Amino acid sequence: STPSSFSNTLIDWYHRHQRPLPWRETTNPYAIWLSEIILQQTRVRQGLPYYLKFIERFPTVQDLANAPEDEVLRLWQGLGYYSRARNLHFTAKQVVTEFGGEFPRSYAGLLQLKGVGSYTAAAIASFAYREPVAVLDGNVYRVLARVFGRHENIAAPASKKIFEEIANQQISLDHPDTYNQAIMEFGAIQCTPVAPDCLFCPLQQECFAFQHGLVNVLPVKEKA
Ligand code: ADE
Ligand code: SF4
Repeated sequence: STPSSFSNTLIDWYHRHQRPLPWRETTNPYAIWLSEIILQQTRVRQGLPYYLKFIERFPTVQDLANAPEDEVLRLWQGLGYYSRARNLHFTAKQVVTEFGGEFPRSYAGLLQLKGVGSYTAAAIASFAYREPVAVLDGNVYRVLARVFGRHENIAAPASKKIFEEIANQQISLDHPDTYNQAIMEFGAIQCTPVAPDCLFCPLQQECFAFQHGLVNVLPVKEKA
């Protein structure tokens, strides 16, 4: 499938199926960063009320940076992994002290923030600044492995570059933000790990896994 047909199909699907989520209504890098940190290791349904609480209590990165640590930890209660809350607070202070209270305005700049790796930097850069950098998370690996028939072990670090290359070939240069949201949402709702909805899938005709009976084989995921 050509890049434009794959990304156009995903974007069209997304417009019909997306869940309305508040962090999709903003281009504020702080709000997007906050949502992505909360959603690490947390389901959307569990993370949503926390995002709303945090953005209400701390509308800006300055508000979060100035808060006492115990208040941040108290608001985090129930989400688990308290180191994430401490890192969240640390990074807010880092943005204020080292970056004048402004999030870096590029993928490369965002990578300088503590706790911001390639996934989070790509999410913020594409959603906030429309920089065409593809996100790669578990959902994205699965969709790409199935549609493009890739058998590389997605648990092997060496596979990351291969999937990054495919993903960055496919990203829409006109709508990198929508493309990234769309492929993650497609993996979460349509092309699920177990029993994906292949019969009502707009990529069925071009999906290698479907065409070759490999839907239950791909992606290959073998822990070393
Ligand atoms: N999980 C992580 N980032 C997300 C996003 N932007 N939308 C939905 N789920 C997500
Ligand atoms: Fe995923 Fe099935 Fe669609 Fe292929 S046909 S993209 S495996 S849902």
